[in-house]
Amino acid sequence: MAKLRFLGHAAFHIEGRGLNALIDPFLSGNDKTPFSPADFPDVNFIFLTHGHGDHLGDTAEIALRSAATVVATVEMCNNLSKSGVRSHPLQIGGAFGFPFGRVKMTPAWHGSGIQLEGGMIYGGVAGGFLIEVDGKKIYHAGDTGLTMEMNLLADESVDVALLPIGGNYTMDIDDAVRALRMIRPKTTVPMHYDTFPVIEASPEEFAKKAFGLTAVKILKTGESMEV
Ligand code: NI
Ligand code: MN
Repeated sequence: MAKLRFLGHAAFHIEGRGLNALIDPFLSGNDKTPFSPADFPDVNFIFLTHGHGDHLGDTAEIALRSAATVVATVEMCNNLSKSGVRSHPLQIGGAFGFPFGRVKMTPAWHGSGIQLEGGMIYGGVAGGFLIEVDGKKIYHAGDTGLTMEMNLLADESVDVALLPIGGNYTMDIDDAVRALRMIRPKTTVPMHYDTFPVIEASPEEFAKKAFGLTAVKILKTGESMEV
């Protein structure tokens, strides 16, 4: 049985057989999370949905300390490899069978530019992940607007979907509810809300509107659930 812990914003920690992983570890610079890169010295994988700072976050620092493999698009992996990070590039729609389970990169309607001091550089396209571990499927949507591609996930029998609800940069509550009608996950955890003023949203309102479509699990930062 895998354990899923919410680290704030869109960051999660997954522990399962052969897997000790982070998704989008934006920790330093997020004053809403008590976690820091030093809390994760021995992760073996980091799944990175896209290049924006609130997702790329501490990826390089954590990966270099732990020797974790970063799974991301070819463009993001290419960029990270310049700092010595070990990576496994995937691309949208592609999947690979890792020792712990299969990981597929899913479409997201969003950007993926990497903000550096000199300006934004190209980071490929944004994505999400369908991660299999301990016989369960976890879908992290990344940052995305509502998209018809989510229909493709209906055949996957998603156990837990991690969906943005904060609006402005991603789906808002109402669009996330429409996404549920396509994805049909057993359980849904709302994410990507309240970190900044423009993405304030009520997870309780989402839970109310999603009633009958999925079980909603609202995780406070640091809280875990079994998958
Ligand atoms: Ni983004
Ligand atoms: Mn974001």
